[in-house]
Amino acid sequence: MHEFYYNLKQRNKEFPLPPGDLGWPFIGNTLAFLKHFSSGHPDSFISNIVSKYGRNGIYKTHLFGNPSVIVCEGEMCKRMLTDDETFKIGYPKSTIEVVRCKCIWSFSKEEHRRFRRLISSLTMGHNTLETYLTRIEDNVINSLEELSSMNHPVEFLKETKNISFNIIIDILLGSYNQHIINKIGNSFTEMYSALFSMPINLPGFAFRKGLMAREKLGKLVKPIVEERRLMIKNGERKDLLDVLLQAKDEDGWKPEDEDIIDILIGIVLAGHEATASGMMWSMIYLTQNPHTLEKAKKEQEEIMKTRLPTQKHLSLKYIKKMNYLSQVINEMMRLTSMNFAIFREATIDVNINGYTIPKGWKVLTWIRAIHMDPTYYPNPNEFNPSRWDDHNKVGSFFPFGAGSRYCPGSDLAKIEISIFLHYFLLNYKLELVNPKCPITSLPSPKPTDNCLAKVIKNSNIA
Ligand code: HEM
Repeated sequence: MHEFYYNLKQRNKEFPLPPGDLGWPFIGNTLAFLKHFSSGHPDSFISNIVSKYGRNGIYKTHLFGNPSVIVCEGEMCKRMLTDDETFKIGYPKSTIEVVRCKCIWSFSKEEHRRFRRLISSLTMGHNTLETYLTRIEDNVINSLEELSSMNHPVEFLKETKNISFNIIIDILLGSYNQHIINKIGNSFTEMYSALFSMPINLPGFAFRKGLMAREKLGKLVKPIVEERRLMIKNGERKDLLDVLLQAKDEDGWKPEDEDIIDILIGIVLAGHEATASGMMWSMIYLTQNPHTLEKAKKEQEEIMKTRLPTQKHLSLKYIKKMNYLSQVINEMMRLTSMNFAIFREATIDVNINGYTIPKGWKVLTWIRAIHMDPTYYPNPNEFNPSRWDDHNKVGSFFPFGAGSRYCPGSDLAKIEISIFLHYFLLNYKLELVNPKCPITSLPSPKPTDNCLAKVIKNSNIA
């Protein structure tokens, strides 16, 4: 009946809907999606569709309450991500309402351009990034030292989240009341868990918890912004937040306090969870593939030898020399695909490869499927950083998206992960408690034990 309803609506269209099935009314295929993703077999969701409907690269489905088209072919995805007129941003209701940040979801071109320019000025460019290195290094060095001093296993993912959260807070706010920062961190964790929840606003449901966490975050961040405004009036200037508070673009637009709260929440949310996951997965893959660990460690030792004795800190010049490490990070991003898909919505009826995507349908560029496609990546399940020696990324690698919404924090994230790995590889070892721990993939992949592991300092290895 569900299928029939949509086919009837499309009956006068020149081209048919893509192959696929729309599942049950209202819930569509969301339960099947949740089953595959929470049980740690996210790729079987797509491989089931492919084995049923052939290697078409485009399929219809119904997910998160919307009729949708899944796209898993590189060129088609690139086309959709770079054509803002035909495909606008289209995340599910739960994601948009829980995050509620104009700076990420801005629908008008003008608003997006303004926010994006402001955020990019804080997160991009050689000189800007260079100024963050010491803060990143200090946070990494202190945290790893503390972790290795514990004589018991820790939830490594929670620890990398603390590290990346402290880094982004340090960059944005400088040092601040730790009690408030902890409360902010907890609210982010609740929000993140609700990103792809069923949009049911009833007590006990993840969606309700996510909405409440977002509300609380706004209340926690507001006094910080107000306090800083006052400090600026008194002539004190400290951190990036102050830059935001004094920002003005060429048309004379100045962000209001509400916009600034929005940007702070948006940057922290977009900026720390995926980066933390990247730190953890890099160490898991390296630990489970000792020859890659050895090679990565050797490269860092060589870099240390070239560092002048007067050079106490890492600089971007040294990070750029970490060629193998950047391949490790690419390979980790490919295998992990923190964002399984990038969501768009068709603004008009579109004909693509002989099929119609109707206006208003969601378009899910399923980047995870592209990253695991053996035609682009032979033996896709293998962790093989050396495949990047001669891999051409065009149309087959989208960990940070593409087009006008390409992640403005991509360089910062890669630098944070590189610095973390640099110090980890040189001085520590990771001992996993459950090396075969099952994985869950919602909202992004992680071991179900949060990567229970010991961080052991090299000098303490018997
Ligand atoms: C490994 C870490 C990261 C991953 C995998 C990642 C991934 C992504 C992806 C795929 C998008 C595009 C979304 C879309 O097109 O709909 C995006 C956008 C964005 N990211 Fe990241 N990101 C990471 C780190 C960061 C960091 C560190 C920051 C900031 C400090 C950041 C800030 C943003 C913002 C503000 C957007 C929205 C851009 C826009 O709509 O114009 N991200 N990210």
